[in-house]
Amino acid sequence: MVGKLTVITGPMYSGKTTELLSFVEIYNIGKKKTIVFKPSIDNRYGEDIVSTHTGFKVKAHKISKSIEILNHISNNIDAVFIDEVQFFDEELINVVRNLIFKGIDVYCAGLDISYLEKPFKTTANLLAIADEVIKKKAVCEKCGEHRATYSFKITQDDKEIDIGGKEKYIALCRECLKKIKVNK
Ligand code: ADP
Ligand code: TMP
Ligand code: MG
Repeated sequence: MVGKLTVITGPMYSGKTTELLSFVEIYNIGKKKTIVFKPSIDNRYGEDIVSTHTGFKVKAHKISKSIEILNHISNNIDAVFIDEVQFFDEELINVVRNLIFKGIDVYCAGLDISYLEKPFKTTANLLAIADEVIKKKAVCEKCGEHRATYSFKITQDDKEIDIGGKEKYIALCRECLKKIKVNK
């Protein structure tokens, strides 16, 4: 038996974590054994939880290096869930391959691009080997349309890795991002 890889991607606020946690629930309802991971760098909502922007939370294992995930995998695990994959090192692709060949289903959620519009390498690699890709959109915070594909940084700094929420980033569609760039 082999597993499958599902990758959920898109900008901030597009519902990636919500969708990831809804898959956790589906496996739990089916009495399947699940385990959730997050990168230790993401300390937004507390140390050992994954949370959506609406405050829905589940317990998670904090991981600093991808390879550590394998130390938590026992024989009876049916599905592995990993949030914020953009913050993991590039070894994650090999860890995920190892899990799906063991017969475990893997669900990953993460940003496709940074606010600089640069693809996150770890997410891009996972997208390349995924069985299923779920590309989400957010509501554009300028025009209100459900077509935002960009996370726009509203603070004045150039840190590409910068944990935060609405105080630092808003979701924008391409049309509204273009208007902001033209007026700069
Ligand atoms: P992600 O992990 O993709 O950042 P979450 O699943 O944590 O997203 O949160 C999605 C929730 O964020 C939505 O259900 C909604 O309640 C809230 N939200 C806040 N701002 C927006 C926005 N601009 N577009 C869509 N949802 C938003
Ligand atoms: P989210 O996709 O669940 O909203 O979380 C994205 C996290 O990534 C959040 O902590 C902000 C951070 N982030 C960066 O570090 N750099 C970026 O360029 C963007 C867009 C987000
Ligand atoms: Mg999230």
